[in-house]
Amino acid sequence: MTALTLSTSAAAALRADAVVVGVSKAAKGGPVLAPGAESVDAAFGGKLGATLETLGATGAEGELTKLPAPDGVKAPVVVAVGLGEPPAADEGFDPEALRKAAGTAARALAGAKKAAYALPADEPALVEAVGIGALLGAYKFTAYQADAGKAPLGEVAVVGAKPRDKAFKAAVERAVAVAVEVNRARDLVNTPPNDLTPKAFAAEVQAAAKEFGLKVEVLDEKALLKGGYGGIMGVGQGSATPPRLVRVAYTHPKANRSLAFVGKGITYDSGGISLKPPGHNETMKCDMSGAAAVFAAVVASAKLGLQVNVTGWLALAENMPGGGATRPGDVLRMYGGKTVEVLNTDAEGRLVLADALVRASEESPDAIVDVATLTGAMVLALGDGRFGIMANDDAFRTAVHGAALAEGEDSWPMPLPQALRKTFDSPTADIANMGVRQGGGLVAGLFLREFVGEGITWAHLDIAGPAFNEGGPSGYTPKGGTGSAVRTLVALARRTAEGELL
Ligand code: BES
Ligand code: MN
Ligand code: ZN
Repeated sequence: MTALTLSTSAAAALRADAVVVGVSKAAKGGPVLAPGAESVDAAFGGKLGATLETLGATGAEGELTKLPAPDGVKAPVVVAVGLGEPPAADEGFDPEALRKAAGTAARALAGAKKAAYALPADEPALVEAVGIGALLGAYKFTAYQADAGKAPLGEVAVVGAKPRDKAFKAAVERAVAVAVEVNRARDLVNTPPNDLTPKAFAAEVQAAAKEFGLKVEVLDEKALLKGGYGGIMGVGQGSATPPRLVRVAYTHPKANRSLAFVGKGITYDSGGISLKPPGHNETMKCDMSGAAAVFAAVVASAKLGLQVNVTGWLALAENMPGGGATRPGDVLRMYGGKTVEVLNTDAEGRLVLADALVRASEESPDAIVDVATLTGAMVLALGDGRFGIMANDDAFRTAVHGAALAEGEDSWPMPLPQALRKTFDSPTADIANMGVRQGGGLVAGLFLREFVGEGITWAHLDIAGPAFNEGGPSGYTPKGGTGSAVRTLVALARRTAEGELL
């Protein structure tokens, strides 16, 4: 893991492999150097901005320019990263622009030992943004490669901060805790499904629980059968590797609020008997991203010592078409007794989540938030960069959207239209696992709502779009698993702990 440190030195005076400065766009003319770059610019005789313009820099987001440093700068290389539009006169820099720029620089500096970051981050919240962006941008998944290429950037030293100031120290600790946990979620998502079985995933949680003092319970296939978890068992029974339900809890002795996070943990989604066609199954190891996010968020809440109780529920199963698999036409009896006619075995996420939502509701948390790579329909609706938020409470949905926005996680509120509810009526069972195709993401949300305990505030995040990046890396987002929703969940836990929510 890349180290994150603070330094009081001027950027030009710090011994490092590179010094990173920011540039903003200008209304006309060349890019504008952002605050923090002063000592570096002085070594250029005040001509760094003009030099960058000559090199073609504009200050656009995602832009990166490398140039050799002149005498007077200890680092041999200057890296200028684009920050996009400059902030309005009375506003500070956008934290998300800083995260992205810091991540872009960290990716470009793979192989280097140390970089001095001289971005416009002079207050704790912005140092935290730079830190998170850099640590997330430096991430690379190489566990299965003999030739892993360049090592991630070794150390990010944020200059201009006050290392002995408590608020700055806390900002670094928060950045490290959250980034390490987002990267934990990414590792789990990227791990191939022949290795990350439900059992192996549960073992990972048990190991972390021991390390961070969490309480963990794992229901194996025997316990699930005995307990009547028909949804999780029904999805897992076509696989040679049996399902698990994991409860992992962080508690604070002074907490007066409790949150339940529920994650879809399909370690591989083949579609089951309703098999997915080629072209739709290559990335389906990502179908446990919700469970990974929940697990990571519980650990992060513990590391941060938040004054709130956070219980994670991981519904883990592999959806395969083996001889024992659930057939389209089968009726499952879910935990709690509701019956579901399975019309399409590829609509499996809602089945495992249903059991977990009923079980989580039994503990009467103040709110439940579930996270799932649930529908292709949500990807068609919102594109692949943002998750949809549905809820049984408008104010809570708005609050979740606000928390996501503040963390730089793109998302959008979506409705739960009552008119779609009857489309998953079943002639045989209480309900069916599929309704109309139009608005399929909302139908899935309505299905989940049926399993949330009476009177419990609930939100559903459909992260099918952003969970797995099939394109190239950008900003702090790598190719592959992204760790989508971890930061939003942690923000919800923090806001609840601070009495701002619920
Ligand atoms: N895991 C998929 C959804 C998905 C699609 C995740 C693309 C990530 C990227 C889910 O289990 C699924 O197959 N959903 C079906 C539901 C349908 C059969 C009602 C879908 O969206 O097609
Ligand atoms: Mn599916
Ligand atoms: Zn799925």
